[in-house]
Amino acid sequence: MTKPEIMLAVPLIDSAMAALDVDFIVHRLWQAASRDAFVAAVADRVQGAATTGATGLKADLIERLPRLEVVASYGVGTDAIDLAACRQRGIVVSNTPDVLTAEVADFAMALLLASARCIPQADAYVRRGDYKRDGKDQYPLTHRVRGKKVGIVGLGHIGQAFATLCLAFGMDVAWYGPRPKPSLPYRYVGDLVRLAADVDYLVLTCKGGAETAGLIDADVLKALGAKGTLVNVARGSVVDEAALAAALAGGTLGAAALDVYADEPNVPAALIGMDNVVLQPHVASGTIETRSAMGQLVVDNLKSWFAHRKLLTPVA
Ligand code: 8YV
Repeated sequence: MTKPEIMLAVPLIDSAMAALDVDFIVHRLWQAASRDAFVAAVADRVQGAATTGATGLKADLIERLPRLEVVASYGVGTDAIDLAACRQRGIVVSNTPDVLTAEVADFAMALLLASARCIPQADAYVRRGDYKRDGKDQYPLTHRVRGKKVGIVGLGHIGQAFATLCLAFGMDVAWYGPRPKPSLPYRYVGDLVRLAADVDYLVLTCKGGAETAGLIDADVLKALGAKGTLVNVARGSVVDEAALAAALAGGTLGAAALDVYADEPNVPAALIGMDNVVLQPHVASGTIETRSAMGQLVVDNLKSWFAHRKLLTPVA
């Protein structure tokens, strides 16, 4: 039986790429010297595509692959995939929910703690030799997390896993989303500015895309206030980054801990110079264990599609 041909837009974990090579002829787009010529050469044979949550698949590439049937994404977020273009062509899409939920929630808590306890800043202090220079007990005191209030924006699977961690850390949890979820045991606040004004930490775990673009604007940041901290493991598009930089610079927002940005891998230059900001390169799901599970799910979705025309984890 001839192997189906697929296009891999960006690299996945090695184990997944090795597994794909067993069952498919894999065209590695990122290795092409000329993307245009590469796509033109394989376009009439490619029936599947694999990509990541961060890179997605844009309409122009979808358009150039006339035989495309399936897109498998290595990530839960689908905001970077042109779902409307897929729908129009009858192309099915899968993602990797659940296998990354706990990892991303853990990382959100790690960012919250890193920011509250100034872990990166204190690490830099030791490395610079300032600990030795200043002597013992001179590093500025930081903030307790226990007993503080967290507002979670988006109480899906990741938000709920994060809420559970917050309870274990003795924090008070409230949340905001488009509609209440009465079956969940957390206080729902239907007004984002009111939630921000009431909490110490505002943590974003919502989806990206048009629905949430610019949700965290200057008013929300002002309400979060000079003692407040913004943590983002969702999507950069959810935050007005110019307003964020201005609020941090002006001291009207206390701190931020970010894993995601509006234009990755470009991090706003203003944020890079700030000491009250923790910056990470979109790695919340980035452990070997979780990326292995995500990669396996990409492989299994593609195999299932070509064997039975069924996806294991379809995007609705
Ligand atoms: C990954 C993500 O970092 O799940 C998502 O939507 O953004 C992340 O888990 C990404 O898919 C790998 O690029």
